[in-house]
Amino acid sequence: MLSLYSATGRNVRKAPRMARKHKKAGLSTRAVHSGEIRYNEYGSVTTPIVQSSTFIFRNIDEIKQLAKGTNDRFEYGRYGHPTQVAAERKLAALEEAEDAVLFSSGMSAITTSFFALLKTGDHIIITDDAYKRTLDFCKGSLGRFGIETSVVKMCDYNAIKKAIKPNTRIFFSESPTNPYLNIMDLERLMRIFRKTDIIVISDSTFATPYNQRPLEYGIHIVIHSATKYLAGHNDILSGVVLGKKKLTSPIREYLKITGGVIDPNSAYLLIRGLKTFDLRMKRLNENGQIVAEHLEKDPRIIKVYYPGLPSHPHHDVAVRQMNGFGGVVTFEVKHNIKYALKFLSKLKILSIGPSLGGVESLVTHPATVSYYRNTRRERLQLGITDGLIRLAVGVEDADDIIADIDQALDAC
Ligand SMILES: Cc1ncc(COP(=O)(O)O)c(C=O)c1O
Repeated sequence: MLSLYSATGRNVRKAPRMARKHKKAGLSTRAVHSGEIRYNEYGSVTTPIVQSSTFIFRNIDEIKQLAKGTNDRFEYGRYGHPTQVAAERKLAALEEAEDAVLFSSGMSAITTSFFALLKTGDHIIITDDAYKRTLDFCKGSLGRFGIETSVVKMCDYNAIKKAIKPNTRIFFSESPTNPYLNIMDLERLMRIFRKTDIIVISDSTFATPYNQRPLEYGIHIVIHSATKYLAGHNDILSGVVLGKKKLTSPIREYLKITGGVIDPNSAYLLIRGLKTFDLRMKRLNENGQIVAEHLEKDPRIIKVYYPGLPSHPHHDVAVRQMNGFGGVVTFEVKHNIKYALKFLSKLKILSIGPSLGGVESLVTHPATVSYYRNTRRERLQLGITDGLIRLAVGVEDADDIIADIDQALDAC
């Protein structure tokens, strides 16, 4: 009988053993079984939620063994807990990463990674359409600690190359990006960085390990806001950092200081959400493509941005590098805030709200939801037009999503 008491995950399943002719279990099998303890102390088929902030010692010898590093057990919730370990192992199996470190949110994963890997005097490069809060953190918070940030245009490979300095420590970008779904050519990117000792980080939230595997291209660290597709039910916040242990270990140690540990209930909901990861991603990719193609044919829509459409500027790279194009479809209705908000208010199935990758379709108007603090001129400089709508399709029937959009446009 396997114990739940393993802080390193030594007794946690990597992937179920398969017949010899199969090299490794498929993505859906890994999503269901990896990270779980098959026969735990209670015989429960699900991984228990170990709801405890601390872990007690039977005797003083156990404390001494822990101090010497000769036993593999938990000590205190902020340093890790069994439900977290199971979720981390499952995520590592999906991304095919050596290690995964789980956090209470995507932003906690990003900020803790930067704090762990950077020191005063370092320089980082980040692309201009990265998540707004990540950009804010780099330009604002890191600057206060004497860390310089260069913001370069997404997919401008010459600008990226030119931005490298002797003290550059990190290059950070996303792919696909929000809201225009720009795609970084990972092979081309790594031709720039392969011979440097700069750590290349990719926020792969919009891609997921179903659609894209940055580690296979030599990217050093992959980050996800697991709040989105990975957890997939719009019910928890979480984030994950994946890569080789040599890079994730200092980040795991820093998490013990910054304290953004995931709580046991959220770790369980993440595990539960991940069991249907493969099924949900298939559906979301399908829905995204169907809805994007439909919108592109509608004369009331000015423009559609979706990497699965030949009209997307990075369609060729996306086809080469991705297995699917995800559930986010961005489009422009009339260049008029009033019209865009009226359209949103007429929707009956799609809900107005930020976030993406969940089972419920969500729709936002970036100009009023994410960029409301910016002036119109600033928004336009950032490419956020008045009629821009970001739709994150859910797993509803594509016909119903389309019918809802159509009736809302008819009512405008
Ligand atoms: C690409 C990307 N990275 C990171 C984050 C932050 O994740 P979280 O909301 O889980 O902190 C978000 C949130 O929207 C995101 O879209």
